Amino acid sequence: MKWKEEFATGIAEIDRQHKTLFEASEDFREVLERGCSSGTYDGFLEFLVMYVETHFGYEEECMHAAQCPIACTNKKEHALFIKLVDKEVQFFQQRGLDIQRAFRLLDTLDSWLASHIVRIDVQLRVA
Ligand SMILES: [Fe+2]
Ligand SMILES: [Fe+2]
Repeated sequence: MKWKEEFATGIAEIDRQHKTLFEASEDFREVLERGCSSGTYDGFLEFLVMYVETHFGYEEECMHAAQCPIACTNKKEHALFIKLVDKEVQFFQQRGLDIQRAFRLLDTLDSWLASHIVRIDVQLRVA
């Protein structure tokens, strides 16, 4: 999925981080379509875990500092997303790579991001 102007938050660093995730999702979808090894998927999950930790943390601090009214909702949605990623990591560790499940994770990631950013993250713009 491509980053669009409607995703702009007015904070360059946050937009940069969002763009990184969109690019990673696109790149990884290509990898999956070509046939993906267990090690590559492991690397992608590791990236995702690290990304959510740093990006969500950074964005939550920005919202807190700006006294953004949506800060609490932002945090709650982040926490739910972290749970979803953790569940995937657990599944992968116990059962190994499941390509269909990996595609589903990317679809969920893309739709979650698009919906979350336009409803929540962009409210930084008006804070
Ligand atoms: Fe957010
Ligand atoms: Fe975000």
